[in-house]
Amino acid sequence: MKIGVISADSASEKRVALTPDAVKKLRKLGFEVVIQSGAGQAAYYADELYQAAGADIANSSTEVVKQAQIITTVNDLPAAVTEHLTAGQVVIGMLDPYRNSQLDTYAAKGATAFAMELLPRTLSRAQNMDVLSSQANLAGYKAVLLAANEYSRPFPMFMTSAGTVKPAKVVILGVGVAGLQAIATAKRLGAVVEASDLRPAAKEQVESLGGKWLDVPMSEDEAQKAKATGGYAWTPSEQYIKDQAAVVDKALSNADIVITTAQIPGRDAPRLVHGATLAKMKAGSVLIDMAAGTGGNVEGSVPDETITTPNGVRIVGAANIPSQLAAQSSDLYANNLVNFITTLMAPAATDDASAKTLALNLDMNDEIQGALAVTHDNQVRLAKR
Ligand code: NAI
Repeated sequence: MKIGVISADSASEKRVALTPDAVKKLRKLGFEVVIQSGAGQAAYYADELYQAAGADIANSSTEVVKQAQIITTVNDLPAAVTEHLTAGQVVIGMLDPYRNSQLDTYAAKGATAFAMELLPRTLSRAQNMDVLSSQANLAGYKAVLLAANEYSRPFPMFMTSAGTVKPAKVVILGVGVAGLQAIATAKRLGAVVEASDLRPAAKEQVESLGGKWLDVPMSEDEAQKAKATGGYAWTPSEQYIKDQAAVVDKALSNADIVITTAQIPGRDAPRLVHGATLAKMKAGSVLIDMAAGTGGNVEGSVPDETITTPNGVRIVGAANIPSQLAAQSSDLYANNLVNFITTLMAPAATDDASAKTLALNLDMNDEIQGALAVTHDNQVRLAKR
């Protein structure tokens, strides 16, 4: 059984789907691996490291697709690669399923495409395959460093003979995996942190990290809804959105740094910071919009660009922060993929560590495979949101 790695086709994506360490693990399990030449270069993994780990190097993506039964990728496959898929091949990656325009092609080719973002996250046996968590954790950390770099004052309090330096005031909006790591990182740098989320369960987590919870009033009905969504965001009422905007407005008028992380799987990100609030913020304050790639939490943010408002507020449209930590984010992503790939094999075959005897055991009734497969048996299987 051969596993292929296709190179990202965008300069803004530096990650690679499998690392040399992952290749070693897969070789031990009896797989063969073929890597498109240069696929790991931007994450500091040269072809020679893959060769030393036991992978073959292919000169083109077409060659990888020709040889491999399982094809791994970071984002969706380039269209020129999808064209060459054949029936029975498996594609695994962060396929951005709800905005993916190639699902019909995957289905028509007879490929089984697994979108890693659809993992059932509360399932304990799936946690070591959770790419959203592994990438968001690193992104939350790096977002704080990006903000610190853009900000023209320090984060910690300093007492110096020339005067006292006040700690930076940081506000985090959206306290999932990325937001929690952002709080922890900002606290470690000595900032004063406030945070908010529409999941009431996040309050305790914020406080346990030393942050102050920004409370938005919630009706009894909304509190019930919040409990029933399995940890994901619920759809807030107009009243909640209005109250939230007022809380955000007050907090941001005083803030030095704002990091927004709010996403809704399969939908555009909610707008949390409006122009009227930006206009009240201090010159030199910095916003990092981690949802810039999915519509943006901050009015006016532009993916992969930093803009400055007329009153001197800088808005960083951080569409793909994990790519900025490509070596580490690739390591964790590759581990997630190896853990998933091993579950796709027939149990009898994995007992025998010989490449020839490994067999795919695709089973749409399996709760992980069934949740991740967006195409199988020539059908698109993605439920509408
Ligand atoms: P995400 O990336 O989908 O969104 C980030 C945060 O923004 C979430 O906390 C969400 O509630 C919040 N948000 C969305 N819309 C908002 C709005 N309009 N106003 C304010 N906040 C808003 O979140 P992530 O990090 O993917 O986590 C999603 C959920 O999955 C969380 O409940 C998290 O605790 C849970 N989770 C559970 C795991 C487990 O049980 N093993 C592992 C990872 C995540």
